[in-house]
Amino acid sequence: MFDTLTALPSDPILGLMTKYREDTHANKIDLGVGVYKDEVGHTPILACVKKAEQHRIDTEETKVYIGPTGSANFNALLTELAFGKSNPALLANRIRTVSTPGGTGALRVAADFIVRASQLTASQKAVIWVSDPTWANHTGLFEAAGIEVKTYPYYDYDSKSLKFDEMKAALSQVGPDDVVLLHACCHNPSGMDLNEAQWDQIIEITQQQGFTPLIDMAYQGFGVGVDEDAYGVRKMAASVDNMILCSSCSKNFGLYRERIGACSIVGKDANSANVAFSVLLYVVRCIYSMPPAHGAAIVETILGSEELKQEWLAELKVMRDRINGNRSMLVNKLIEKGVKRDFGFIAQQKGMFSFLGVNSQQVERLQQEHSIYMVDSSRISIAGIGLANVDYLAESIAKIL
Ligand code: LMR
Repeated sequence: MFDTLTALPSDPILGLMTKYREDTHANKIDLGVGVYKDEVGHTPILACVKKAEQHRIDTEETKVYIGPTGSANFNALLTELAFGKSNPALLANRIRTVSTPGGTGALRVAADFIVRASQLTASQKAVIWVSDPTWANHTGLFEAAGIEVKTYPYYDYDSKSLKFDEMKAALSQVGPDDVVLLHACCHNPSGMDLNEAQWDQIIEITQQQGFTPLIDMAYQGFGVGVDEDAYGVRKMAASVDNMILCSSCSKNFGLYRERIGACSIVGKDANSANVAFSVLLYVVRCIYSMPPAHGAAIVETILGSEELKQEWLAELKVMRDRINGNRSMLVNKLIEKGVKRDFGFIAQQKGMFSFLGVNSQQVERLQQEHSIYMVDSSRISIAGIGLANVDYLAESIAKIL
């Protein structure tokens, strides 16, 4: 049976990790996968995480199954962090959350939930609209669940800005049976976010068209701050009957390999949220039965202690400030190296990524001739830049331009 298989190319993002590891160049730079790195290129374990983990080791009493919802305490605390304590949807008991294996797990749960929630005949597929461009794995993930993926205009590669009018025009044609995926903040891969006034307009279109918004929030706290980054999530939840949120604790808690995230659904009232929740639990059981517990235990210990929460917020700010500092540092260094092209947009964008805006041959040359690794689209992970490599990076970019 396996003889019918043909080999697939490696993942456009994860494949770079292997190539980078195998490269022996002394000045190699990894701008590939979206993980935070400190000045020396290390992805540290946060101090608050270390403390919470110690607390877990000292107090954990059993490894018995946790159940499909995961930890109820984690779910409640993460729901508050995402939606805000006083969100009308939360106060009206309209939100239900399950812990998931990372943000990708949350998206897969959401995908299977969407298929079950859609009234489809045997030949029909549920439809999700994603931004053009979007995270490289969104399309494969939804298609794997049997959902048809369509795109709406989002990023203008020429002007390095948002195609906001085109985005609005496209979403104004989407019908009530479809789902629209929006990035809460730190748009991956463009770094181009909606501002509050733009979110307000998208929320109005959502209400008017009646489609279901699915918001992917993988970088809460990496843009402006945990509350600011959740503006769209919070206002959307308070404004529409149905919504799905997929969150991740990989980046903001640095818990990448612990695989912890959450999928939340907002129902039009408590009863319909309960019905939707029963479907969500069924979906979870069919995919992986129940989520891992360790990452959730760490996050709930941090969010449940005012002292650890403040420590986490301070550590998150350090990561955010370093990334924003790297953005300006690269732009200034390119000017210093005599590059005439305007890269100022990189300093304006938010979160872990921006497109450098060079073509795929130039991306290839950066990799082959300079051992600088980025996704083919020229998406760069800003956290991979540092004082020690920015000169070499800017010189190499100047050469391939
Ligand atoms: C990325 O976009 O680099 C991250 O979200 C990691 C991943 O799984 O792709």
